[in-house]
Amino acid sequence: MEASAASTRVAPSAVDVWRVDTTDGAAAPRTTLAVDELERAARLRSEQDRSRFVAAHVALREILSCYAGGPPALLRFAQAPAGKPFLCGVDRPRFNLSHTGNVALIAVADREVGVDVERVVTLDVRALAPLVLGCDERAVIGRCRPDERGRTFLRLWTLKEAFAKARGIGLGFDLASVDVSPALTPPTAGWLAIDDTYVRELSVGTAYVAAVAVLEAPARVVLRRWPSRAGNAPPRHRPPSGLS
Ligand SMILES: CC(C)(COP(=O)(O)OP(=O)(O)OC[C@H]1O[C@@H](n2cnc3c(N)ncnc32)[C@H](O)[C@@H]1OP(=O)(O)O)[C@@H](O)C(=O)NCCC(=O)NCCS
Repeated sequence: MEASAASTRVAPSAVDVWRVDTTDGAAAPRTTLAVDELERAARLRSEQDRSRFVAAHVALREILSCYAGGPPALLRFAQAPAGKPFLCGVDRPRFNLSHTGNVALIAVADREVGVDVERVVTLDVRALAPLVLGCDERAVIGRCRPDERGRTFLRLWTLKEAFAKARGIGLGFDLASVDVSPALTPPTAGWLAIDDTYVRELSVGTAYVAAVAVLEAPARVVLRRWPSRAGNAPPRHRPPSGLS
């Protein structure tokens, strides 16, 4: 779908992060999805996973159509070599999706962006940490109370995954070599620069941890909910006020 330049302009220095409740995928208008999206949903094993996938992808189309213009069903997607999806026919917005449990986060920006959300679950941190964390990151975990170690591991993990997703490189690199521990440590907490990529945590409640990353320069983060309430909705076919 071609959209006018005006309708695809996204103001610089902002990233909108939409939180989507994917509990009720059965109510989502799946007619907006393309055949390949429906086929991917159908391949998932449980009805709950299928429903959540549909809810997340319907929301993705609806949200992106507010930025790019045109009906959600007409948006076309393609994938970069390591699988990162992008919108065909328009240079902007850039976006990224992450889902876990009944939550999806959809980050939208004027430049490459990555987002990751994980549900806080019990983990064998002792076994996992040496595989993916560097020594400064393991030291952060070592300083935590034992009951905080799993959550801290996941905080570090989401920062790494958001970094990888912004760059579109997947997880096939030496994860331990990218030290994200300063992002958790005051006074550095906030945006952490790793070469040309900026990562920071997002606050999404106690049951989840999340992080976002953008290329080039730090951006103002605006957390939003989808479906949006009055005053929170992006006007259709032009950038939402939160991005100005
Ligand atoms: C990207 C990746 C880290 C996401 O893992 P995850 O924690 O299971 O899933 P999340 O929910 O956080 O993110 C999934 C979403 O990220 C997006 N995505 C997929 N590949 C991506 C990539 N390389 N970079 C950024 N985002 C990507 C998709 O929108 C996907 O949603 P979908 O599966 O519903 O379409 C993982 O799938 C990965 O490593 N992929 C790359 C594989 C690779 O290197 N392939 C090389 C082929 S040559």
